[in-house]
Amino acid sequence: MQRILVTGGAGFIGSNFVHHMLARYSYDIVVYDALTYAGRLENLAAAEGNPKYAFLKGDICDIDAVRSAVKTHKIDTIINFAAETHVDRSIMQPDAVIKANINGTWALLEVARELGLPRFHQISTDEVYGQIPEPLRSSEGDPFEPRSPYSASKAGAEHIVYAYHTTYGMYTTISRGSNNIGPFHYPEKAVPLFTTNALDNIPIPIYGDGMQMRDYQYVTDHCEGIDVVLHKGVAGEAYNVGTSVETRNIDMAHKILDLLGKPHSLIEYVKDRAGHDRRYALNTDKLRALGWTSRHTFDQALEKTVQWYIDNPSWWRPIKNGEYRDYYYKQYAERQSK
Ligand code: NAD
Ligand code: DAU
Repeated sequence: MQRILVTGGAGFIGSNFVHHMLARYSYDIVVYDALTYAGRLENLAAAEGNPKYAFLKGDICDIDAVRSAVKTHKIDTIINFAAETHVDRSIMQPDAVIKANINGTWALLEVARELGLPRFHQISTDEVYGQIPEPLRSSEGDPFEPRSPYSASKAGAEHIVYAYHTTYGMYTTISRGSNNIGPFHYPEKAVPLFTTNALDNIPIPIYGDGMQMRDYQYVTDHCEGIDVVLHKGVAGEAYNVGTSVETRNIDMAHKILDLLGKPHSLIEYVKDRAGHDRRYALNTDKLRALGWTSRHTFDQALEKTVQWYIDNPSWWRPIKNGEYRDYYYKQYAERQSK
């Protein structure tokens, strides 16, 4: 592994991963990203000028462009972060999710097979397991029961990755991360949405009863988990990455408001997400056995995240003024009228 194509590297986790890899190793990192609404070059500003880093604008569904990128940069490893990632958008517009997450993953695998790449890593999610009742936790061998267009597309992508391993003998690995929080998180997702709304004294929309549970992990912990799977993961295997501690959404919202010194009266209960998964929970023993550990508690992760949004309004304010406004109106106007 010397020259890595990081697809989706201009997004939230992808950009954090690029910074992690450039700081730790001397690999050549080529980011390949379509720069959708979620992909932002400013997330990669700190890498600009680094001779080990290059950026290519391109769609993972465009197999010719992928092939050309892999050949030109003599890529030996693909790490696929690129995806449509927002569950609510996947409910509003499932076609985009199916195309990017399934067709796109296939195109990358096909190029990797054709050119004989020695390594392919797929970034997946704990959502493939579906909702998990307490006190159960999902282990890697558990069946998939995805319930949203987003999670179904990620499960579909995983099946194709696995098929390329068993059928063509490709060295593939998969990591299934829980909810990430941290810098460069697009403010459509709950934690950055709640934080930036609260900073502006705008109501925080809590879906349903707010008792849903998520395992919120700091993004750099996830990046370290992916790093461990890349270097120590066994071909054909999948690895869960998360803290194994779950928090209710309403408790997370209260903590954000407390950190910002804002009143709890900013909380507004709105119509629930269709098919809303109640709880995700991971067993992470398999990755921990490879030496990985989660460094941040939920409180530490949330505190660092909220501070980053306090310190970086120049990053999120322009986003909230652009395409985001139309999306927010469509997504929340109808919810708030219920
Ligand atoms: P994000 O939405 O912030 O970024 C996605 C990136 O992919 C963007 O830069 C976008 O431009 C790019 N992209 C989208 N479609 C593309 C296409 N067709 N071709 C090329 N680039 C394209 O997403 P994120 O939160 O950073 O998630 C990254 C990956 O991690 C995804 O695969 C997601 O499913 C997975 N994941 C996310 C979380 C989380 O909590 N955010 C948790 C587990 C797994
Ligand atoms: O679990 C991993 C997944 O986490 C990733 O695979 C996805 O890409 C990522 O988007 C995330 O999905 P969630 O749906 O869990 O994240 P989101 O931030 O959208 O929502 C977190 C919880 O907060 C969820 O229970 C829904 C709720 N929520 C969300 C929003 C946007 C609200 O109550 N109000 C909101 O406005």
